Amino acid sequence: MSTTKRRRFLQQLGIGTASLSGLPFHLDKNSNPSSRNILQTLRKSTLYDEPYWEMVKRQFTVKTGYLMVNSANLCPAPYFVTEAVDRYSRNLAQDVSFQHRSHFHEKRERVLAALAKYLGTSSQNIGITRNTSEANNIVVNGLDLGPGDEVIIWDQNHPSNNITWKHRAKRHGFKVVEVSVPPDPGSAEELIASFTEAITPDTRVISFSHVSNVSGIHLPVKEICVIANKRGIYTLIDGAQTVGFLDVHLDDLACSFYTASTHKWLMGPMENGILFVHPDIQEELWPNIMAAGWNEKSSTVDDKFCVLGQRNTPGTAALIDIIEFHQSIGKKAIEKRIYQLNSYLKNALKESFHSIQFVTPYEEELSGGVTIFKIPGKDAVSLFQQLYSDYKIAAAPTGGLRISPTINSTLSDMDRVVEAVKELSGD
Ligand SMILES: Cc1ncc(COP(=O)(O)O)c(C=O)c1O
Repeated sequence: MSTTKRRRFLQQLGIGTASLSGLPFHLDKNSNPSSRNILQTLRKSTLYDEPYWEMVKRQFTVKTGYLMVNSANLCPAPYFVTEAVDRYSRNLAQDVSFQHRSHFHEKRERVLAALAKYLGTSSQNIGITRNTSEANNIVVNGLDLGPGDEVIIWDQNHPSNNITWKHRAKRHGFKVVEVSVPPDPGSAEELIASFTEAITPDTRVISFSHVSNVSGIHLPVKEICVIANKRGIYTLIDGAQTVGFLDVHLDDLACSFYTASTHKWLMGPMENGILFVHPDIQEELWPNIMAAGWNEKSSTVDDKFCVLGQRNTPGTAALIDIIEFHQSIGKKAIEKRIYQLNSYLKNALKESFHSIQFVTPYEEELSGGVTIFKIPGKDAVSLFQQLYSDYKIAAAPTGGLRISPTINSTLSDMDRVVEAVKELSGD
């Protein structure tokens, strides 16, 4: 095919000319890295085929030859967003006067509005923390609890949602009840029962991850929250493994509190988190961090619970850019793609290793964006180390070998993971 014909063909696919040199979009000398045109291109394309996802992948500046499949821990931001952080940082460094910085306050308001819309709630109900850990701590330390009260936690919760409760219980004398779910759940009902059977008249809070980072089990959040609400029990949902992956609508979930980080599946700048507090109970949570700017009349979640002195304003401002990136592709399309990557990976692994033990359920409705597995006789930590040192694949040794791909990976990248694990396992 001639270059002109190829260019026309790629343009029809929505890929544009940036890929013609074979360079990533951001390194192609013909492309303008700070161009927002890519958002229009992404928005216009509705095919969602492999060339589309290859184009998405080219928006990331991952080192040549490396593969990042560790979104459950940390996900790189697209170039478009790291460039925005740099731009906002330079802008701030040029003028740190109170007058100039006021436009960063306006940006924070815009970010809150955009995040709220993206998450299906009102901007009054959310605040920007530094990460999920901080948001979890704000809730754990902000509720009035004492002797005679019980808090139900999931044994698969992240430490910021488990050791926090246990430690506070020691200090304030309430009881923590830790529940397990079946390792190979057959249905959502089994998962719900693990929590509801632990409820007693003294239960005040049920606190659990929406999707577990150690098993990939996806809990039926709404069903558990509806049952808890009927009994007047608060629910704290840790959404570190969902925001940016699942099409979450906070007002529909019926939870009391929801927390998340923006540097995982949302692929946003480092050190931003989200705290949602249901409007009916905002008066019942005590703020536990206060700094200049806080006052008794503070009425939004951001003003009441998330005032913390000087913050990383350039990083927070760039949240607006990552939300635009997600919206240009589409929340549902991203969710579907992440499930597709995981299903493809699970099937390929199953075909390659007959003895493989999946920690993550096979069914989409019971699982999240991660695939965790064990190969009998093979140590997951060694596999994880060798995947990186010998194959430049960044995974995690969490609950087994954990692969957490997002839209910066393609189906052929999943083949690459399977091939590498095969070679390392001597299969
Ligand atoms: C379920 C869950 N909650 C909380 C966290 C902590 O996230 P962060 O370090 O962004 O606070 C993680 C991190 O992996 C997680 O998986």
